[in-house]
Amino acid sequence: MSLPKVFVTRRIPDAGLDLLQNRASIEIWTERQPPPYKVLQDKIRDIDGLLCLLTDRIDKNLIELGTSLKVISQMAVGYDNIDVAAATARGIPIGNTPGVLTEATADLTWALLMAASRKIVEAERFVREGRWQTWEPMLLLGADVAGATLGIVGFGRIGQAVARRAKGFDMRVLYWNRHRCEIGLERELGVEYASFEQLLEESDFVSIHVALFQETYYLFDRPQFDSMKPSAILINTARGAIVNPDALYDAIHTGKIAGAALDVTEPEPILPDSPLLSLPNLLIVPHIGSASIKTRSQMALMAAQNLIAGLQGECLPNCVNPEVYERKQ
Ligand code: NAP
Ligand code: GLV
Repeated sequence: MSLPKVFVTRRIPDAGLDLLQNRASIEIWTERQPPPYKVLQDKIRDIDGLLCLLTDRIDKNLIELGTSLKVISQMAVGYDNIDVAAATARGIPIGNTPGVLTEATADLTWALLMAASRKIVEAERFVREGRWQTWEPMLLLGADVAGATLGIVGFGRIGQAVARRAKGFDMRVLYWNRHRCEIGLERELGVEYASFEQLLEESDFVSIHVALFQETYYLFDRPQFDSMKPSAILINTARGAIVNPDALYDAIHTGKIAGAALDVTEPEPILPDSPLLSLPNLLIVPHIGSASIKTRSQMALMAAQNLIAGLQGECLPNCVNPEVYERKQ
């Protein structure tokens, strides 16, 4: 019997590829850049399974071309690049990789928060440029983290993991979520539920952890920056399009907020002439939230497990659109 055909849109850690060996006939896109849309259109016509990344646009047109497609497995927890409704309409399950990247992404959030508050990048540049001449009482003064108020926007897995870390810094932690969590969990984590407006007004650090959907697109726009403290720092490790980049530039440039630290931008990669890059109090890293060796290996394994389950007609261990199974019963 011939093996099912699979297209993997980039080289992923061996843990995932090893699992696919002998279970599927695999083609891997080995370029550093994602496959162009035209390549995806060609490949999808002929495959049973697609293992994709958040940089691949898996839209309705593409999904409709995949006449033999049985499963889409994304190596990421976010799936805003995939037209879920179109896949569901065709009965195609979509897999993602929740949980295994929670701690790594929360760690990176804290790395950004600490670096932005204490001007670590600016300070490092200062030393390398040979400008360190003496200890100066007023040099590179940052914001205190210990005892400050942290506002967490979106209290899912990563938002909660960020809150857990804040305990060690003796912070007041506010969170906003469309659903309030259980009182027991609030007590355990030492967090207070707040309205979005209250969180913006009272937080020294605002960290974004909602998923990107239509409802959260540009959740941070001019009115939100107007509500924040002039000393506040925004951290975004969720998705770039949750923040209007023009409004963010204006807010920092005009001193409405003190700065920002971003792992994600809109668009990605950030354009070389983006005005944001001219701001000294803006720190940007290239979407590395889950980029630890162990985490990426676990994500690849999980993506391969989802893919195999889909190819075998079994329920995916982590499925974004489980309603496809209800329709099949
Ligand atoms: P999660 O546990 O599913 O949490 C998602 C959060 O988004 C929840 O607070 C959820 O609220 C909220 N949300 C979902 N739909 C919403 C809507 N329509 N309006 C308002 N809020 C909504 O996911 P997670 O594992 O914490 O990951 C969160 C996001 O982080 C991912 O979606 C991804 O975009 C991003 N991420 C980035 C990196 C990186 O490398 N920088 C790594 C991992 C994840 P409810 O509790 O009410 O459902
Ligand atoms: C990364 O951004 C993810 O969604 O896993």
